Amino acid sequence: MKGVFPVARFEDKETPFYYYDVELLEKTLDTIKTESGKYGFKVHYAVKANANKRILQLISQSGLGADCVSGNEVKACVEAGFPAEKIVFAGVGKTDKEINEALDCNIFCFNVESRQEMDVINELAAAKSVKAQIAIRVNPNVDAHTHAKITTGLNENKFGINLEMLPDTIRHAQTLEHVELIGLHFHIGSQITDMSAFEDLCVRINELQDELEQKLNLVVPNINVGGGLGVNYEHPNHLPIADFETYFRVFSKYLKLRAGQTLHCEPGRSVVAQCGSLITRVTYLKEGTVKKFLIVDAGMTDLIRPAMYDSYHRIENLTSDEAEETYDVVGPICESSDVFGKDRVLNKSKRGDVLAIRSAGAYGEIMSSRYNLRALPKAYFSDDF
Ligand code: LLP
Repeated sequence: MKGVFPVARFEDKETPFYYYDVELLEKTLDTIKTESGKYGFKVHYAVKANANKRILQLISQSGLGADCVSGNEVKACVEAGFPAEKIVFAGVGKTDKEINEALDCNIFCFNVESRQEMDVINELAAAKSVKAQIAIRVNPNVDAHTHAKITTGLNENKFGINLEMLPDTIRHAQTLEHVELIGLHFHIGSQITDMSAFEDLCVRINELQDELEQKLNLVVPNINVGGGLGVNYEHPNHLPIADFETYFRVFSKYLKLRAGQTLHCEPGRSVVAQCGSLITRVTYLKEGTVKKFLIVDAGMTDLIRPAMYDSYHRIENLTSDEAEETYDVVGPICESSDVFGKDRVLNKSKRGDVLAIRSAGAYGEIMSSRYNLRALPKAYFSDDF
């Protein structure tokens, strides 16, 4: 089975480009609203996954908030219509300029990752005579069982504050006049498909909340559990919407929220991955002694995930129904890691055929680069056609 694409309308379009299925994005957003709404959870879209203007507009219209990790992301979200009171700003290295701009926007919350950052936010807020709302990012030491490069919740990670340093850091926050501690923030990693990792996180948060209540008599109004829900890269046609039902149910079942506490989460990949495909043409078919190579006009500059994380993206030939053959699908960049897939079974392919590299809506277009002086990929939406 292949995805449904308006292939005839692709004919006059220069490749490579990203193609976004608006209907699928809207269905995904509806599912998120229904499933999170059952428990009153608040969802902030992790903008880092895809900051395409139109995507941001569609997501802001759906009512979700935004989780940003740079001043430019905050600006893009304000421009796309996200209300400031639904914007959170995270990141280990926020600069003074970025903090000042976010203070001027009056965003909902800064997710703070170190004691020094907290002091800087306090100073900059004091200079403006405002009070910044902050959440402390805690390193919960929970294994997400995912790729090492996208695991973030283990001890001695560059992210967050370690559990043993947390009580002191909280006491310190309480002495600062221009910050108000309104939450605790956690994030254990990305592309998590084993739901027991989220259960482990809930258990750890419960223990921590008990400890903080006993030691510091502290209950914060907001708990933020980050992102991380995985998508099915193998079967984008059968399973186009991530399992939000189970994801939210796990938190409602295992996390003991205190009275008046709100749960926030920050999905990125699971919101946008499946609605985006990278569309590319076969430039050459090259026969080696054993292998056949399909050299396509997209490269790792357009979609870096396979080269960077060895990640699997399904590849489909949209213009051939001929008997299947096995190919290595490779890009034109002068790097041996510029490979989209090895030993892939595709309908027999020839020069000029149009291929779709699937599940590329998250961490695809946004991570593209101009290496080799290549043009950045364009983007089209299903309702442009
Ligand atoms: N919140 C925080 C604090 C994060 O660090 C991340 C992702 C998210 C939310 C969103 O997580 P998601 O729902 O997308 O799993 N470029 C990599 C992924 C890096 C993820 C970084 N943090 C990739 O292409 O797989």
